[in-house]
Amino acid sequence: MTNHKLRSTKNKVQIRVKVIIGVTLQATARDIVQQFPGSRCFIVTDSNVKRLYSIDLELFLKKAGMETHLISFRAGESSKTRRTKEYIEDRLLKYRADRNSIIIAIGGGVVGDIAGFTAATYHRGIEYIQVPTTLLAQVDSSVGGKTAVNHPLGKNLIGSFYHPVRVYINTDTLSTLPQRQFKNGIAEIIKYGAILDLELFQYLDINRQKILNRDKSCLVHIIKRCCELKALVVQKDPEEKSYRRILNFGHTIGHAVEKLSNYKVPHGFAVAIGMVGEALIAKNLGLLSLEGFQKLQKLILSYKLPVSIPCRFTLDEILTATRSDKKAKNDKIMYTLISKIGIAKIDVPLSVNKVRKLLIKDKNFFEK
Ligand SMILES: NC(=O)c1ccc[n+]([C@@H]2O[C@H](COP(=O)([O-])OP(=O)(O)OC[C@H]3O[C@@H](n4cnc5c(N)ncnc54)[C@H](O)[C@@H]3O)[C@@H](O)[C@H]2O)c1
Ligand SMILES: [Zn+2]
Repeated sequence: MTNHKLRSTKNKVQIRVKVIIGVTLQATARDIVQQFPGSRCFIVTDSNVKRLYSIDLELFLKKAGMETHLISFRAGESSKTRRTKEYIEDRLLKYRADRNSIIIAIGGGVVGDIAGFTAATYHRGIEYIQVPTTLLAQVDSSVGGKTAVNHPLGKNLIGSFYHPVRVYINTDTLSTLPQRQFKNGIAEIIKYGAILDLELFQYLDINRQKILNRDKSCLVHIIKRCCELKALVVQKDPEEKSYRRILNFGHTIGHAVEKLSNYKVPHGFAVAIGMVGEALIAKNLGLLSLEGFQKLQKLILSYKLPVSIPCRFTLDEILTATRSDKKAKNDKIMYTLISKIGIAKIDVPLSVNKVRKLLIKDKNFFEK
């Protein structure tokens, strides 16, 4: 995969938005003030990130002369609701945010998704900036323009495609991230390697220890590559009409595991299980070699991510849950499968029965 369509210089990725990697919060504040003179800033954040980073960012912005307000809500997926969006909107109105105002989303994917969606509809759309602070948000959710809130009937059911004007990635914020959250992001990074980039896949294998020790130069390298890859995919198919579905590898079975566990299994862990399941399907279809399957499974395992379905779920429960996934079409579920490490095939239609037959013999995929 080449990146000719993408203007990419050292630590900078150009999509419709600029992604700047390896900047401190102070430099971020300076750049925002320079790039958006005369604007007022509304920092949207959650309760954890507020304490860790957002208050500092607010101070830096104020010191640099920008009028800044901070709006925060309780951390966690349960806050990703219409109600929280309303709360943010009420605060914006109270502070008289106008069309020239800018929202700065600083936090993980929850903050990014809800702040982005608020920016998309406030005064029919105002500009927003992403300052992602989780690994998952730095490699995935802050780039690509998907914004949403959840509904009791399902995740991300109400939202829009709306790109931030800038993404500032500060890898230093990852130092405070709990290990479980860190591994959540690793699973998505392995996915990028598996579907698009053998070199990234090999890099993850060779530099495992350094990455797990959160070595800064390794992190900058993999985050930059993931942002480039995501930008390439999104440029080709911004609204997921076809090619963008390549990013769904691991997510059909992954979403089923997440849903059945009532979202107790974190997204990245579920995607790790999903990648192994979907690679098994590909292997049993004759699309992927045994060696390719084993390489993927081994890499996932080496990062101590799960590679099998938790024993409390049966194959049938998982398969039934895949039916309600957005990727279902008529009776078939559209899978993204890999044929080699670094090469993926989208929209492989498979019936639930077919998948059952393909997976039932692989007892190891189900925990005993
Ligand atoms: N828009 C997209 O394309 C996209 C893609 C993937 C996931 N998502 C969404 O992202 C969300 C998950 O994102 P997430 O995993 O970042 O979860 P999150 O935003 O809930 O963050 C996880 C936890 O880490 C805390 N945290 C954040 N940064 C921290 C730091 N630097 N140090 C210590 N703690 C920190 C948060 O307060 C939170 O408690 C889901 O809602 C998912 O639907 C969106
Ligand atoms: Zn994902």
